Amino acid sequence: MKLQDKFVELVKQKKGLLATNFYNYETLSGILSAASELQLPIILQLTKSSIDYMGLNMAVSMARTALKDYGVEGWIHLDHGDTYDLVQRCLDAGFDSVMIDASEQSFDANVAITKDVVNLALKYEANVEAELGFVAKLGQSLENGGFTQPDEARKFVKETNVNALAIAIGTAHGFYKTKPELQMELLSKIHKITDATLVLHGGSGVPHKDLSETIDRGICKINLATEIKNIFMLTLKNQLASMNEIDLRKVFPLATRAVTGLVKEKLRVVNRL
Ligand code: 13P
Ligand code: ZN
Repeated sequence: MKLQDKFVELVKQKKGLLATNFYNYETLSGILSAASELQLPIILQLTKSSIDYMGLNMAVSMARTALKDYGVEGWIHLDHGDTYDLVQRCLDAGFDSVMIDASEQSFDANVAITKDVVNLALKYEANVEAELGFVAKLGQSLENGGFTQPDEARKFVKETNVNALAIAIGTAHGFYKTKPELQMELLSKIHKITDATLVLHGGSGVPHKDLSETIDRGICKINLATEIKNIFMLTLKNQLASMNEIDLRKVFPLATRAVTGLVKEKLRVVNRL
């Protein structure tokens, strides 16, 4: 099933779809073990830096093969694509879905590039996600910009025909210093007047009851990255500190299993289990 259609199906069921970033074989297999054990669908995301790290074809073919081997219904998505060229390379490499993130540009510039990407993706029948509003990226101050305005969101979706829209309702990328205050009423308003599938970025550290409420109020795709990296590296560090093992095949699986545990927990929340 195409991702666009899956979103429609899940929204009707008031369920979300977890979108997880992977960084290497170990995080990929840790994520897919979780989805496979629970028999739940999942999105596998790659940012430009992960693509640069693994190589585009290596990353896509590894993810595609792994989805098949683990028997998981899943889609490969470009997370925070910043140029038309990168989007095109990803579509050519076989991605099911792409994000064009021009959220830091003007409304008109964001509309223009999103329209171009929507046009391009038509040929590939791929899903397209854009972002409107300010969701702080790693290292950015939270004070830079504002929440997504419902009228702008409606106008943006109407003008671009984008399938999915990432909105700013109080989340940020990375860990939170204080508990995030999510703008739930604003989310309901945006959901009421836009047709696009709504996406929540910055899923790490958001309390589970808040994640559930965002789904009740119209979010479908929930992005999770930082917590995956964090649990993988913390587990690895602890293991290395307590053992004298040079066989990486004995060390990595412990970190991989920690990722599986985390992703299972998040999958249960997002799927209302
Ligand atoms: P976190 O790193 O805060 O989980 O955000 C993930 C994300 O939005 C990826 O696009
Ligand atoms: Zn994001």
